[in-house]
Amino acid sequence: MSKVISGFSKRSKQEKINWLAENYFEKNAHVVQILQQYWNSDEKLQQLHDDFIENTLSNFYMPFGVAPNFLINNETYAIPMVIEESSVVAAAALVAKYWSTRGGFKTTVLGTTKIGQVHFMFEGDKEDLSNYFTKNKAKLIAATASITANMEKRGGGILDLQLVDKTDKLANYYQLHVTFETKDSMGANFINSCLEAIANAFRNDQIEIVMSILSNFVPGCLVRAEVSCPIADLGGENPQKFAEKFYQAVQIAQIEPYRAVTHNKGIMNGVDAVVLATGNDFRAVEAGAHAYASKDGSYKSLSHCTITNGIFKFWLDIPLALGTVGGLTSLHPMAKLSLEMLQKPSANRLMEILAAAGLAQNFAALRALTTKGIQHGHMKMHLQNILNQLGANAQEKEKITTYFDGKTVTHAAVVSKFEEIK
Ligand code: MEV
Repeated sequence: MSKVISGFSKRSKQEKINWLAENYFEKNAHVVQILQQYWNSDEKLQQLHDDFIENTLSNFYMPFGVAPNFLINNETYAIPMVIEESSVVAAAALVAKYWSTRGGFKTTVLGTTKIGQVHFMFEGDKEDLSNYFTKNKAKLIAATASITANMEKRGGGILDLQLVDKTDKLANYYQLHVTFETKDSMGANFINSCLEAIANAFRNDQIEIVMSILSNFVPGCLVRAEVSCPIADLGGENPQKFAEKFYQAVQIAQIEPYRAVTHNKGIMNGVDAVVLATGNDFRAVEAGAHAYASKDGSYKSLSHCTITNGIFKFWLDIPLALGTVGGLTSLHPMAKLSLEMLQKPSANRLMEILAAAGLAQNFAALRALTTKGIQHGHMKMHLQNILNQLGANAQEKEKITTYFDGKTVTHAAVVSKFEEIK
């Protein structure tokens, strides 16, 4: 059976679905029904979502939740989160409440610059190239004038433009390395448009432009979130022991990449959920965060911990290229709602909120891992998923949930209890 098709994007949504059902499903009766079930009855709203990408067939639901009680720099936030993992919002809410009575989260934006590069090849004399660059630098910047005018009004624009010699790594390879400030927009289109204008003005017979593109490695667009309190205030039976084990867990993630990746994944549980809820680019944030985690040559924890003079301090440094204007942030009604819930933050404020969410998530994971173990809370939250998988009705769900209150949930134990009451 031939599954290659041309002109697919030109077909109507219904035609696309029918073709897919016929060609990629053995029993296809359910295909149309499931896809249509997720269409929005408001045609205008559905059209808006259809237009985000090509070949839209339907919508894919993710839970939209909220973690209240986040005290960040003395302001309380309810943080919207889009995530499918059962325990993430619960953990964020729990930890937000916990730190709200211990001074809350303190956050600082450490930098807001972003990078773009024009990559090119040049086989001639290095000095000639350097002279050509110096002579034309002002012209290169001027070539972006129509693109940068609005951004400059908002206090952004091109901050720096450098010629970089990379020929020691790759023969004939040079870059124009450009530093940008994009204020409240993530700035991807702005940066790429500037770079292409610069490249066009720069090219000559000897300069072969390979590509012009922003970098998602944004170590200069960095935010710190921090919590701290006297060890005695940490609570629990033995706060000193808790603090020490917690500290060790962070140290392990500093030197052991296998652990560091999972440790940082826990941070990204919090970060990504807010990135998604606010219509930001989660692939860019992920790529940038993990690149930053390996900036010293080996992959390390993004968070740090100290215990000094009886004070427990735990913080996270994370690069975050975000926008609160433009792109999906102003198009997607749910993203708009999320930003409204966060009091219409600037991009800097959103960086701070995300860093706090990431740190909270990391604190929750390390607290669980170094005390009760992760499965206790995880499986408790996963119980409803197991019951849904088993097809339990409301009554059965209530009975089984009550039964497992205070007990450790395992898949096998839930199945056995379900069969018992069936
Ligand atoms: C699970 O989504 C995240 C954790 O694995 C993070 C961690 O191990 O620190 C619990």
